[in-house]
Amino acid sequence: MSETVKFTIDGKECIGKKGQYIVDAAAENGVYIPVLCHMKDVIPAGSCRVCTVKANGRNMAACTSPVEEGMSIENNTAELLDIRKAIVEMLFVEGNHFCPACEKSGNCDLQALGYKYQMMVPRFPYVFERRNIDATTPKIFLERNRCIFCKRCVRMIKDAEGRSIFAFKGRGETLEINIDHKLAANMTDEMAQLAMDICPVGAILRKEVGFNEAIGTRKYDKKVIGSDIENNHQ
Ligand code: FES
Repeated sequence: MSETVKFTIDGKECIGKKGQYIVDAAAENGVYIPVLCHMKDVIPAGSCRVCTVKANGRNMAACTSPVEEGMSIENNTAELLDIRKAIVEMLFVEGNHFCPACEKSGNCDLQALGYKYQMMVPRFPYVFERRNIDATTPKIFLERNRCIFCKRCVRMIKDAEGRSIFAFKGRGETLEINIDHKLAANMTDEMAQLAMDICPVGAILRKEVGFNEAIGTRKYDKKVIGSDIENNHQ
């Protein structure tokens, strides 16, 4: 049996398993910590930092830091909420996100966080970076303008032999998400759908299935991101 640890989040007493990441332990205790790059049970990348919490007085990524016995975690403080909002704003200005024309609108985690944190005009200047799209594979439309470099697709979408279908190319300003055209040629509809679903933005879209789900009826059109976790434990 795994060892349990007791900790608090904003004063609420919580119980988790030794070695469990803060973000997952928090969710099991009904506390929502936002994530963009994290996926439960997948090795964390710790790249977006939107999950930043203060644990024992230090800012940490909740998706890469395990809970410890007696840990005191701050989550919903004005300071942390502003850090998260700033990160969301930064992601919006670094890419070219045109939500009204995006197939992921209403199903997009970044957009949903923008609403949650009541983002209006970002505090940073827009970069308006030129990014190429790749529509040359049979099932996927790769819209790099919306990529936030979370690496979810690289970590999750693999062929039967375990080879990643997506990969990063370049570094710094030239970094971009790429798709292996040879491997992508054999992607099934299910793989393409999974790739689209795990992308937290609208960078990976399936071809030929646009707007099957009406705007206004999508996941975050009906509820605030994270409310599932909070409501499950009331
Ligand atoms: Fe923790 Fe992205 S969700 S760093």
